[in-house]
Amino acid sequence: MFLETAKHAAREAGKLIRSRFEADITTEEKSSSFDIVTDVDRASEKLIKDYIMASYPDHSFLGEEESYGDESALHSTLESASKQPYLWIVDPIDGTSNFVHGLPGFCVSIALACYGVLTVGVIYDPLRDILYWAEDGKGAWCGEKPISVSSNANIAECILSTGFSSDLRARRAVLASIQVLGEQCRTIRSFGSAALHLAYVASGKIAAHWQYGLSVWDIAAGVLLVQEAGGKVSNMSGKAYCLTDKDVLASNTEQHSALLAHLQPLAPQPSKVNPF
Ligand code: IPD
Ligand code: CA
Ligand code: CA
Repeated sequence: MFLETAKHAAREAGKLIRSRFEADITTEEKSSSFDIVTDVDRASEKLIKDYIMASYPDHSFLGEEESYGDESALHSTLESASKQPYLWIVDPIDGTSNFVHGLPGFCVSIALACYGVLTVGVIYDPLRDILYWAEDGKGAWCGEKPISVSSNANIAECILSTGFSSDLRARRAVLASIQVLGEQCRTIRSFGSAALHLAYVASGKIAAHWQYGLSVWDIAAGVLLVQEAGGKVSNMSGKAYCLTDKDVLASNTEQHSALLAHLQPLAPQPSKVNPF
């Protein structure tokens, strides 16, 4: 029931986003020119929120755009997530820079956390009309097909991925990590949507994705996908992912500890990373 709500909301938001791709949009800077929002992000979030809240008026909702600018409210929502029966976590467009620049590689990401535990995760790629989804204990899927992480333990045969947050300290950490890992793996990709990267880890296309300075809406749905697909998601200390984590490694499990050994020392101090 919750899964169907998430799928429907993601598809409807995806239709809206697709209809505005390469059309007239209004773009604004948030914290800097590295961090932008469009009228389509806001319209997508409103559509998703209206649909979810109409279905479940007593549920809580955390959307990227309406949360922007109130760091303390975000912090307390996440700190108290374990007490909330139903918290929807939504990124109305993950990959806004791609969307604005006319590049493919953006999606809608919707997750539901029940008492802090990720229960439903849906990632919809509207240009390709591909829907990835997972439910706690029921596996991960791409459309009607079950998906699983890759089983390759040889990093030299694997593609890894990462991404650049708007925070400079997190970017520097990513650049330093590329310098190290770029010499070990087949290649590294950075498509510009953390959620889609996680869907690619869950479906075995990419062996691992890491990033510093993420926000919960970027990854909540993707974390469940990777876990349900047989992968592992941790923070850079190796602890199992929790909703307040910003520095994250998601892998096919095989290479998790080897990658962490490189990534952990490069992590910026959490308190200095821009939550948005
Ligand atoms: C961004 C994308 C990008 C990641 C950034 C995110 P947005 O989300 O996921 O891949 O590197 O850290 O902020 O702003 O497009 O929703
Ligand atoms: Ca995002
Ligand atoms: Ca976004």
